[in-house]
Amino acid sequence: MIFDTHCHLFDESFQKDFDAMIKRARKNGVQKFLILGDNLKNSLATVEMIKKDPDFYGAVGIFPCECHGCDLEKTLGEIEKLLSDKAIKAIGEIGLDHHWEKDPGQLKEQEMFFIEQIKLANRYHLPLSIHGRDACESIYRILKEYRPEKGAILHCYSFSCEMIEPFLQLGCFISLGGPVTFKNAITPKEVAKKVPLDRLLVETDSPYLAPVPYRGKRNEPAYIIEIVREIAHLRNMDEKEIEKTLFDNACRFFGVSES
Ligand code: NI
Repeated sequence: MIFDTHCHLFDESFQKDFDAMIKRARKNGVQKFLILGDNLKNSLATVEMIKKDPDFYGAVGIFPCECHGCDLEKTLGEIEKLLSDKAIKAIGEIGLDHHWEKDPGQLKEQEMFFIEQIKLANRYHLPLSIHGRDACESIYRILKEYRPEKGAILHCYSFSCEMIEPFLQLGCFISLGGPVTFKNAITPKEVAKKVPLDRLLVETDSPYLAPVPYRGKRNEPAYIIEIVREIAHLRNMDEKEIEKTLFDNACRFFGVSES
């Protein structure tokens, strides 16, 4: 059993073969899916999508590169309305992106959206799913100041091994995706070995970041077995055993039943 803790299944690239794609995932052992919105439109799409299947859960939020030009109060007011849905289990995908964004004014705007969404999550007792590309220090500084009450997932963890422990102390879980299978991905492979097993999660980030041997193609939840397999290999563990542990971790984190 596998819980894909990060996928964007509303993406239009899934429209043509959605049911077949879910079927392939189930065949590979994926039992549960956390679907994340990245702007208001996709957060609404997420809420609609999770109604379709009891194994679909959702997260809603404004992604750092999507916040520019949005009215903070109005947009987060709309996001807040979506939180009453029982299958919404996190605020995400939120965070900071210093890779695509360099403008100081827009980085400030990202921070404001990030901070306000942490506060929103704390008000509703929800955890966070965080994107922090090239923004390790700022993510750490903000999480330390605005403690996420129900914890946070550092999705597709791309920071250093040294930062694992400080983030764990703030209640973070570390999630690994496709890059751990890339041949030249030295740090993610080290991270996969070092994270305490009870704080590790697995994800695809579909349709992005497909693992080897699908690298460069559209990613889909079925491919998560390649990621689980690589983590099992790196930790020298039985694949089924690690699969079960990662599944239990995700159910515990999101507060959902294992059945
Ligand atoms: Ni994502």
